[in-house]
This record gives sequence, structure tokens and C-alpha cells, in this order.
Amino acid sequence: MDSANAATTATTPSPPATAPARPAVAGLEGVVVAETALGDVRGEEGFYHYRGYRAQELARDRGLEEVWHLFFHGRLPSAREHAAFAGAVAGARTMPARTGALLATIADAGEPLEVLRSAVSLLGAELGWRPTLDAGHDELAEEATRLCALVPVLVATSWRLRRGLEPVPARGELSTAANYLWMLTGADPEPAVARGLEQYLVLMVDHGLNASTFAARVIASTGADLAAAVCGAIGALSGPLHGGAPSRVLSMLDEIGSPERAEAWIRAALQRGERLMGFGHRAYKTDDPRSVFLREVALGLGGPRAALAAAVEESALAVLAEVKPGRRLRTNVELYAAVVMEACGLAPELFTPTFALARTIGWSAHVLEQAAHNRLIRPASRYVGPAPPVPLPAR
Ligand code: ACO
Repeated sequence: MDSANAATTATTPSPPATAPARPAVAGLEGVVVAETALGDVRGEEGFYHYRGYRAQELARDRGLEEVWHLFFHGRLPSAREHAAFAGAVAGARTMPARTGALLATIADAGEPLEVLRSAVSLLGAELGWRPTLDAGHDELAEEATRLCALVPVLVATSWRLRRGLEPVPARGELSTAANYLWMLTGADPEPAVARGLEQYLVLMVDHGLNASTFAARVIASTGADLAAAVCGAIGALSGPLHGGAPSRVLSMLDEIGSPERAEAWIRAALQRGERLMGFGHRAYKTDDPRSVFLREVALGLGGPRAALAAAVEESALAVLAEVKPGRRLRTNVELYAAVVMEACGLAPELFTPTFALARTIGWSAHVLEQAAHNRLIRPASRYVGPAPPVPLPAR
């Protein structure tokens, strides 16, 4: 030991012995870190709700803007409030100039979800969104409405630009779902297709404290602005264990090809230690109600893909029960989400951005709630390295 290190060791007192930290809860499973009036998931019951309303009932009977109003304003709108809210949403679809110019330069620089993440970042800066620590509720609510109205516009515009097509201007008289399809394709969507997509979007608005919503709340808890929280949430959503699964579902269905090949393909994949995309869920140990609903929508929209997915589901559930006994692995939302989105004419690269455009409403509502009752989210970790203080090695 040289003289400098000897002096450091001699003058630095050892930290006092502390009680050993509690063991970490892997994946924070079952840890309650927030109170929310927005909704809940009861995994054992196969049930989730939005402010008390069964989400599937909302998907069956209501439009996305009504559910959006429920999240932002705490109640379903009256007919007059609905019309006013839909008008406000349509009026908020105008693309800010610099964000629009950025899209033209980055649309083909990455996957659509990566482009969206970058665009949301600039959007917040261009519109001068203030830290949630400084902005009041009304200011944040206005930002959130603008953001949720613009995310579909950002996705559709960048999609056309990356394919060398002229962007299509938004149409104020269309719902969010129909306008999104219109802006992607430049054609009037079939009403059944627009409604199928809208039902998917309603189902995806919120789902308890999933990874991306937690990410949004953590960022908001630092007092950072809405765009920062939503950029972080989009990053969390991109992972294949969360929102990145549906395009992989389609690749799986492509590889399987026909119902007769399903069982052998599934057994081989599990033998290689792979996970089946569209199966398993942290919360649901019984049927995921979203998958039950979307199976109906997919079969209603028709086509060979829906029939193949149903055959793959049957095989996968049987093989998973045999190969992974006791894990209670069921179909999650992503199997039929992929089938529904494809039937609505969306390319696989648009699946996760389309999920994101619905979930931005939920993320934003959580940011508003976090900001209204904020305490910095700052958990602890349990140190498991060499016992400190470790003497510095001699140079
Ligand atoms: N295929 C095969 N085995 C699986 C699957 C799957 N899809 N999901 C879980 N398992 C197995 C695991 O291998 C593990 O087995 P083991 O005990 O032999 O090691 C056991 O089930 C428990 O797995 P965990 O990873 O602890 O479960 P967790 O709750 O963390 O995982 C998750 C949930 C990430 C969704 C998982 O089920 C998965 O990877 N699914 C595939 C990806 C997917 O579909 N993602 C979309 C989720 S829905 C959404 O986010 C909107």
C-alpha cells in the first residue's frame, strides 16, 4: 500500500454496521407503489376496469373519445360534452411546424416507434411544456389533450413519409380511430374496420401499473415534463416482453403457416427455451379479458389469419400446460391484437405505435394523477457485491 492509500485508510472511518437490507422483490411483483383512481387489474378474476367500469363493456358500447374523457375528466361525457370533447380533440390535431419538419428528416431513420419517441421529445420542447413540478393541473391537462390528439398524427404522417408518400391532412369530422386509418391510407376506412380498431384502442388505454405506466409515473415523480414521461413510457413499451410482442406474434403465425404444423412448431420452440409471443402475463393467471374480446373481434373481421390464430392458441395452451405445469400460462392480449391490427390493414411495424397511441391516454392520465399527489418515487436496492469499504488498489 502506498503512503496516500495508507493515509486514506487511516483517516476514513468504516461505515457503521446497518441492518441487512430486505431481499429484493424480483420484478416488483405484488409491490404496491401508488394509489390510483384510474383503474385496476384483478388477475385472478380475469377482470380489469376503468374508473370502475368494466373495460370490455366500454369497448363494446362506447367510443375512444368517451373513454378518454372518462380518464381525463373523471366521468363519462354527456352527449353535449362528448361533442365538445371530440371537437377539441379534432382541433388539437394540427402538427407544430418544427416537429413536422423533423418528421420529414427522420421518418425512415428508424422503426416507426423510435421515430415517434423522438418526435414526442421535440414536440414537448417546441410547445414549451413546463416541468410537471411547475405546471398546474389545467395546463397539464391541456398539454395531455394535445399530445394524445397528436400521437396518431405523428405515427400516420411519419409512416407515409417513410414510404415516400405525401402526408394526408387530418379530417376533423372523423373519430380518432377513423382519422388514423384515413391519415395512414388516404382512403375512407370501412366502418366495421374503423370500429374494430377503435375497440382495440379502447381496450388498450390503461392496464394497472404495467411497466410503461410505471415508467411514466417514475419520470413524472421527478417533476419532469409530460413529454419526458411519455418518451420514457414509449421506451418501456418497445420491449418484446411488453408492447413489442404483437409483430413477433405475426412472425410466429407466419412460421407456423397452417394449423397442422402448430403443435410441432410450439414444442420445438419451447424445447429451444423460447417464449411463445402472445402467451403468459404477470397479472393474469386466467383468461386475459382483452384476449377474449379481441378473439371475437378478430373472428368477426374474418380471414384465414384469425382461424390460424385460434388453432395456434388451442395447441399452445395444451402444450404449455404440459411443458410448463403450474405456471398457469394463458393467452395474453397480443395474440389477437396482432390479428385484429393486421385485419385493419396495419403493417406489423405499426402494431406497437398503434398500441402506444391508445396507451398515451392512460400514461397521460397517470402523469396528471402523479403530479396532483406527488412524492418522488425512489426505491432502494440491496447491495450484494464485496463487503465495503474495499481498499483502493495501489496504482
Ligand atoms: N412462453 C413460454 N414460457 C413462458 C411464457 C411464454 N410466453 N411466459 C412465461 N413463461 C414461463 C417462463 O419461462 C417461466 O418458466 P420457468 O418457471 O420454467 O422458468 C414461467 O413461465 C414464469 O415466467 P416469468 O418470466 O417469471 O413470468 P413473468 O410474469 O415475469 O412474465 C411475461 C410475464 C413477460 C409477459 C411473459 O409471460 C412473457 O415473456 N410472455 C411472452 C411475451 C409477450 O407475449 N409479451 C406481451 C405481454 S402483454 C403486454 O405487455 C401488453
